[in-house]
Amino acid sequence: MPETKSIFNTVAKRYDILNTIFSLGIDRLWRKRLVEELGNANLTLDIATGTAGVAIEALNKLNSQLVIGIDLSGEMLELAQKKLESLEANGKVILVQGAAENLPFKKNTFDAVTIAFGIRNTVDPVKSLREMNRVLRSGGKLGVLEFSVPQNKVFGPFYMSYLRSLLPFVGSIFGTRKEYEYLADSIPKFPQRESFIMLMKEASFGVEKAIELTFGTVIIYIGVKEN
Ligand SMILES: C[S@@+](CC[C@H](N)C(=O)[O-])C[C@H]1O[C@@H](n2cnc3c(N)ncnc32)[C@H](O)[C@@H]1O
Repeated sequence: MPETKSIFNTVAKRYDILNTIFSLGIDRLWRKRLVEELGNANLTLDIATGTAGVAIEALNKLNSQLVIGIDLSGEMLELAQKKLESLEANGKVILVQGAAENLPFKKNTFDAVTIAFGIRNTVDPVKSLREMNRVLRSGGKLGVLEFSVPQNKVFGPFYMSYLRSLLPFVGSIFGTRKEYEYLADSIPKFPQRESFIMLMKEASFGVEKAIELTFGTVIIYIGVKEN
């Protein structure tokens, strides 16, 4: 398996356009819905921020004074920085290079934490969730957006073959076949629904809800730091 950081450094330049192609543009609506589920938050942390899609939504929708976006990949962060400058949001979203498993922030700092399409790529999801819990203030909310395999007996297998053939094929047009093969394969292997909720509980989160979107191809999990 290629190292996560090198995968995202490789796909960075085409990341936004490929997302739009694969999801037919719906990915933006998923990110919007994620932040809408969190209510207001003065200070928000977006983990695995990538090209800052969720961080920008958080700024607009959560009335956040400040959003911090953290990511392992320097190339993704460079693109995020350019996007923020073009939107004149660079003073309100601060980008930091770092890992979800070892967040460089004090405990009880953030009102909300988000992670979209990132937890699946972390080396240690439970350690990452525990870190999210540590940096959230008591009562603060966690929003996780992640791909899943639909449970419908007809659509599920169809969707899996779409993932396993179309993603690497389109990826190959952009010279990133190997990376998109890995990303497609990693979806069914990652804990979903009840199994992921168990991981959130293991990291001391109260789980408020799990919302299935677009025929169960993605799920938003909302957790709360209870103490
Ligand atoms: C599929 S992208 C998602 C980006 C963005 N959140 C979005 O909604 O488009 C996954 C991102 O997670 C980052 N990442 C992977 N493992 C990480 C880790 N352990 N800590 C922080 N970021 C990580 C990658 O560098 C990449 O930018």
